[in-house]
Amino acid sequence: MLNGYHYKGPLPLGSVVAHNCGAAGLFSDAVNPDVVLDAVENGDSYVLSVRVDGIERTFTGAITSLGRRHIGQALLVFLRELQGLPSYNEWGTMVGVRPTKLLHKYIDTYGSVEEATRHIRDEFSVSMEKLDTLAAIGVYQRPFVEVGDDRDVSIYCGIPFCETRCVYCSFPYGLYQQYPQQDLFINTLMMDIDDMVSLCESYGLNVKTLYMGGGTPTILDNDSFDTVLRGLSRIVPKGREFTVEAGRPDSVTKEKIKSMESCHVNRISINPQTMDDIILRAIGRGHTVQDIDDMYRYVRKHTKLAVNMDFIAGLPHQQMAHMVDNMDYICQNLPENVTIHTLAIKRGSPLYDLQMQEHVPNESLVRDMVQYAKERLEVAGYVPYYLYRQQYMKGQLENIGYTLPGKACEYNINIMEERQTIMSIGPGSSSKWMRAPLFRQKKQHMPKDVDVYNATIQSLLNKRHALCDSFWEVQ
Ligand SMILES: C[S@@+](CC[C@H](N)C(=O)[O-])C[C@H]1O[C@@H](n2cnc3c(N)ncnc32)[C@H](O)[C@@H]1O
Ligand code: SF4
Repeated sequence: MLNGYHYKGPLPLGSVVAHNCGAAGLFSDAVNPDVVLDAVENGDSYVLSVRVDGIERTFTGAITSLGRRHIGQALLVFLRELQGLPSYNEWGTMVGVRPTKLLHKYIDTYGSVEEATRHIRDEFSVSMEKLDTLAAIGVYQRPFVEVGDDRDVSIYCGIPFCETRCVYCSFPYGLYQQYPQQDLFINTLMMDIDDMVSLCESYGLNVKTLYMGGGTPTILDNDSFDTVLRGLSRIVPKGREFTVEAGRPDSVTKEKIKSMESCHVNRISINPQTMDDIILRAIGRGHTVQDIDDMYRYVRKHTKLAVNMDFIAGLPHQQMAHMVDNMDYICQNLPENVTIHTLAIKRGSPLYDLQMQEHVPNESLVRDMVQYAKERLEVAGYVPYYLYRQQYMKGQLENIGYTLPGKACEYNINIMEERQTIMSIGPGSSSKWMRAPLFRQKKQHMPKDVDVYNATIQSLLNKRHALCDSFWEVQ
């Protein structure tokens, strides 16, 4: 298999090359690349030469976005064929992370979902099956993305810690038990939360949804979790969507569930990833299948929380029988939402280590698992409601969130479709201010390093105020 590539040439073509090399499973590697790519502009064309294993190929295309896409497509087919990978290509020349964002732009332009999908088919050669999924999601999402008020916002609060590291995860999160300044972090986070409360008041913001994610937010001890949640509950009006990522049942206690209830949280995620204990151990999760089931039953019996469950297709050692077990569990228990991710092998994750990759199922099996999950979920009454893609996904597939009708998590739609302002709290989180009709963004990124976040919080909050001022007061 090919592992690294190095590209030299014009920047706009470089980003297309990066996407397609990623889709062929290659990572950027300037030191020891297997594939060397050099591009130049020649008149009104790009000329891209590719050298690998003594073979040299040249691809040419116009200096336009269409020309770049065609080069990218030909490069992808070439790199996949070289590695003996089948040339499935359901997404055609579409390499972006948010296909549904483009779909909505085209619905705005051409007036209907049918016209929009037709344009996507013609422009990117996306398969009929993916177009059908896109259309179904477009129909479901449309009422959520049609322009609301500029003062409708969502809020994200990120807790950048976990208790153990899952092998596929590349998030730069630390282990909470090893962080020496836990009290300082909670104090800083509370400053951030209090400041958000006052921002919402002074700009008259209408907080539609709030999502507490991570990392593992439930890693905080019972008291700190309660303190933070009480702070957050001052931001989101009672009855609005308020979600807590409680993905790791090993970090959730009855006290934390009580805090959620009393702070009017109404959705949680409990994330099995797989219903197989051997795989759970291999991927570094700190919980068992029994822990997942116990927590699910407890939540169902004692609370009214809506539940999402995340799964991954393509985990090391995974076979089709495992996906059958996953879907049997879902179809018997019917959580409101289910998200089926396709494994993405990310640089910076332990799984990137090639020895572990040997146990990852091949693309065609992953594709079958994803398809099987889709069919079982649809028969059980779920509909797809959001979708996104990542680089380095097995088989260039996608992640799809499914929902029982009327139970979608609106925050997931907002974060993907980028039509509503999302302001964020916590290290590593990002705020994006969005304005219709073009939805150009103003952004602020909080530092990922928790010590830097603690040390610079006042200037970060000042900057956030200045951005809010420029967005809502000076229009
Ligand atoms: C942002 S993560 C946070 C979830 C939470 N920390 C947990 O692990 O339960 C959301 C979901 O992304 C998925 N995910 C994370 N890394 C992945 C990868 N490399 N490939 C595919 N899915 C991944 C997992 O299903 C995970 O539950
Ligand atoms: S997948 Fe979730 S629990 Fe696992 S390391 Fe990543 S953020 Fe933490």
